[in-house]
Amino acid sequence: MASVLLRNIAKRYDDNEVLRNVNLDIADGEFVVFVGPSGCGKSTLMRMIAGLEDISSGDLLIDGARVNDVPSAKRGIAMVFQSYALYPHMTLYDNMAFGLKLAGAKKPEIDQAVKQAAKILHIDHLLERKPKQLSGGQRQRVAIGRAITRKPKVFLFDEPLSNLDAALRVKMRLEFARLHDELKTTMIYVTHDQVEAMTLADKIVVLSGGAVQQVGTPNELYHAPANQFVAGFIGSPKMNFLKGTVESADAAGVLVRFDSGDTQRVAVEAAGLQRGAAVTVGVRPEHLKVGAGTAGVVAKTMAVESLGDSAYLYAESAVAPDGLIARIPPLDTYRTGEALGVQANAEHCHLFDEHGQAFRRLSPHAKAA
Ligand SMILES: Nc1ncnc2c1ncn2[C@@H]1O[C@H](COP(=O)(O)OP(=O)(O)OP(=O)(O)O)[C@@H](O)[C@H]1O
Ligand SMILES: [Mg+2]
Repeated sequence: MASVLLRNIAKRYDDNEVLRNVNLDIADGEFVVFVGPSGCGKSTLMRMIAGLEDISSGDLLIDGARVNDVPSAKRGIAMVFQSYALYPHMTLYDNMAFGLKLAGAKKPEIDQAVKQAAKILHIDHLLERKPKQLSGGQRQRVAIGRAITRKPKVFLFDEPLSNLDAALRVKMRLEFARLHDELKTTMIYVTHDQVEAMTLADKIVVLSGGAVQQVGTPNELYHAPANQFVAGFIGSPKMNFLKGTVESADAAGVLVRFDSGDTQRVAVEAAGLQRGAAVTVGVRPEHLKVGAGTAGVVAKTMAVESLGDSAYLYAESAVAPDGLIARIPPLDTYRTGEALGVQANAEHCHLFDEHGQAFRRLSPHAKAA
């Protein structure tokens, strides 16, 4: 087990700066998840930690020792990629034993490591099979098992479940949580799946534009996003954004006026906020209250998607350039083109300045996070 510290890490390919000023403290035994849009540098960062990619500048410390120049094999790290290649002609046992054999381990040691990993992953009854005789999820577990047998100080998983179907992903997600509980090894995990990030992580790192946008617990990122990017990225469907200007600000919060003349009260700490300043109100779909003909921001129904247990209403509004999404009771009906009033409780709203920086919320949820 080990801590991983990143100090001012940057990565450049020729003139192209892919990552800059990455600072991150990963504690011994922590489960850290990297998220961010495609191309933001998640895999690059993982590969630098693994030693598969040079670090352009900055320091990488594993267990307190600088490892920038330590070769990959000596860093005590095991990495599982999205496309995990198993040797097709070898049994599962041999696939899992391969790394240890190469490292010159003795037979009894290999045997014990393979059997222990297979037991943890519930594939101990399959050890004599070849990869083609396995399901996708079983194969995935062999790839993880191969990483476990090496007893690494740190596990790196780069989108390990993206090839699996939805049901198997849920199952494997639970397996990852259990694996971490059992091994207590430091884990760094990349995913595009919101639920995986929220449920597995002790700490989520949001990357975008080559930089870390925010680091925090899942609850911190959900209830107290530092900026509009994080607010829009964490949560699915995504947060609604309504553009307006400050009408008045006091200790209880801010009254925001929209071009349409409608207003919305927002419970944030906004000392010194000037009347007329451009702001964006953020409201999650579960907190957007819609009603035909009621007060609030004027919107127009575009579509309703029923998911059985709930439904999502999509609406258009002049103050929300990206459109609006509200979670509504499953049996509520709206006609396409129907006029709506849209509003939210002040304590459910977020507020961002013209640069996208969030004001601190007064909501008890945000304070607890
Ligand atoms: N060898 C390379 N040479 C030049 N540019 C590269 C190289 N490898 C990656 N990049 C660039 O670095 C950026 C980050 O790539 P990376 O693979 O880390 O993204 P990612 O966040 O993992 O994306 P995804 O979610 O799609 O896997 C991309 O813009 C990519 O084009
Ligand atoms: Mg990637």
